Amino acid sequence: MLNWLKLRTRPVALRRPPRGPLVTIERVSKRFGRGRGAVQALEPVDLTLDRGTTTAIVGPSGCGKSTLLRIAAGLETASAGSVLIDGEPPQQMRVRGEIAVAFQEAALLPWRTVDSNVRLARRLARMPPDQQAVDRLLGLVGLAGFEKARPAALSGGMRQRAAIARCLATEPRMLLLDEPFGAVDELTRRRLNLELPRLWTDGSTTTLLVTHSIQEAVLLSDEIVVMTPRPGQIDQRIAVSLPRPRTAALIESPAFLEIARTVGRALGIDSADTPGREQTDRHQPQPPKSAREAAA
Ligand SMILES: Nc1ncnc2c1ncn2[C@@H]1O[C@H](COP(=O)(O)OP(=O)(O)OP(=O)(O)O)[C@@H](O)[C@H]1O
Ligand SMILES: [Mg+2]
Repeated sequence: MLNWLKLRTRPVALRRPPRGPLVTIERVSKRFGRGRGAVQALEPVDLTLDRGTTTAIVGPSGCGKSTLLRIAAGLETASAGSVLIDGEPPQQMRVRGEIAVAFQEAALLPWRTVDSNVRLARRLARMPPDQQAVDRLLGLVGLAGFEKARPAALSGGMRQRAAIARCLATEPRMLLLDEPFGAVDELTRRRLNLELPRLWTDGSTTTLLVTHSIQEAVLLSDEIVVMTPRPGQIDQRIAVSLPRPRTAALIESPAFLEIARTVGRALGIDSADTPGREQTDRHQPQPPKSAREAAA
């Protein structure tokens, strides 16, 4: 019975080689509200995500990154345009438990323990229980010993790490992460940046990640999408052709620093800064791209 379940939960589709687009975002725009109080969060955005790749979205605060992620997850409706994941709307994949989402604020069930939150995610994704896998994940995110703690007894960073473990426990086809390490201390963040991608870069998971850290974007992604200030549009797409697995030594390499500098420049951060460590939200909001072009 268990073997049958194991086979059933690892469909052949997951083993497909990373080739071709999995996600197609076409002319997606978003306007919140109506009339004079309306907020145009996104101008039409076109983006394709190839199977098995990781794409990082960076841009100034309020430019629509979370909105785009929520639309890609099927949690928010676009005002216009469409999102297709493997040819179908994201809602359908989410219902099947094939999309995992971790937000800026970790959302754990407060009455359940850490361990139980992670196990529940597997159950909801109709996966067989696998305590070993759950323990391994909790160990990886540094929560060994806190399995029986309830979220209220954890720090913000610990809650965030528990939420990441919960996401990864379902071995999703599509992983959507919104500043997943925002509340995590710098040392742990670095460790997670180096270790966690090993779990989702085996070719079966396509990841879309929002981050304010240029260094994190370069470390984790195959491509960085730089957005303009609100209303958000894609300003630049920057390829990150660095070998995997990415190591701590790579961060100091000229190739890494060059990409970080390119991203920093795209965000309007002074190149005299150390862009590898720069946070994208330190940058002063700029006028939209169209206005910058008009001024040029
Ligand atoms: N539910 C909502 N109702 C009204 N306006 C909203 C809503 N959600 C987002 N917005 C507005 O849309 C714009 C984009 O918000 P979004 O949260 O996507 O930005 P962001 O790029 O993720 O910012 P940050 O980096 O600060 O997280 C903002 O101006 C925000 O005020
Ligand atoms: Mg956000």
